[in-house]
Amino acid sequence: MPVARALAAACLAVLLAVTGAGPAPAQPSPDEETSLERDDPAHLLAVVTKQVPISPLDYEPDDLVTWPGTDYRMRAEVREQLERLFAAAREDGHGLRVISGYRSYDTQAGTYDYWVRHYGRAAADATSARPGHSEHQTGLAVDLDSTTGECYLEQCFGETAEGQWVAEHAHEFGFLLSYPSAARALTGFAYEPWHLRYVGPRVATDMHERGVLLLTSYLGASASSARIGELLGSRG
Ligand code: DAL
Ligand code: ZN
Repeated sequence: MPVARALAAACLAVLLAVTGAGPAPAQPSPDEETSLERDDPAHLLAVVTKQVPISPLDYEPDDLVTWPGTDYRMRAEVREQLERLFAAAREDGHGLRVISGYRSYDTQAGTYDYWVRHYGRAAADATSARPGHSEHQTGLAVDLDSTTGECYLEQCFGETAEGQWVAEHAHEFGFLLSYPSAARALTGFAYEPWHLRYVGPRVATDMHERGVLLLTSYLGASASSARIGELLGSRG
């Protein structure tokens, strides 16, 4: 079997094992749009990176809820799991707070522009996603801080007790750190110990146990949200 096909088969086997998904759907007719050709920004494993934009660009999740006591929004399941994560952190003596959640295309455009105006394009591109390229637009990403606020949106958050607790336990609740320091060359973004992306406990735990840092690596180099949609069904 050629290497590429063997890799694709292995990748599929991993995903099926993790998700329990059944056999592939029947072959579509040539004029039928396939799920591989469709984007599914609502999917839990939707890929949004510096290279892969969200599609459609004006996507807004239809199940956004507000984080208690704030105006920050996120998808309903994300809030549910984040509440469990916060409760577990509290039991271990760590206070956390949400400092960002869902950001629309327009909000992200404003955020990116702010970075460009204040710090120049190169610094902006290392720190802020361009509009249409932020995981925050999926409603699956949140930024966290400790309640002390000593390392607000600073890399030293990763060295605080709270940041270390998050890095160690986030996967149990379905979250991963999208921008680890070891993967800067791959993500194109500086280390962001505060940025969590929800993928669900099964995938997050499997990635953690396999030592896979990035969702894109886990899904395979050619992954797209549509491909994952095909593998995992239509669950948003
Ligand atoms: N800071 C991350 C990369 C974002 O803007 O989505
Ligand atoms: Zn973020």
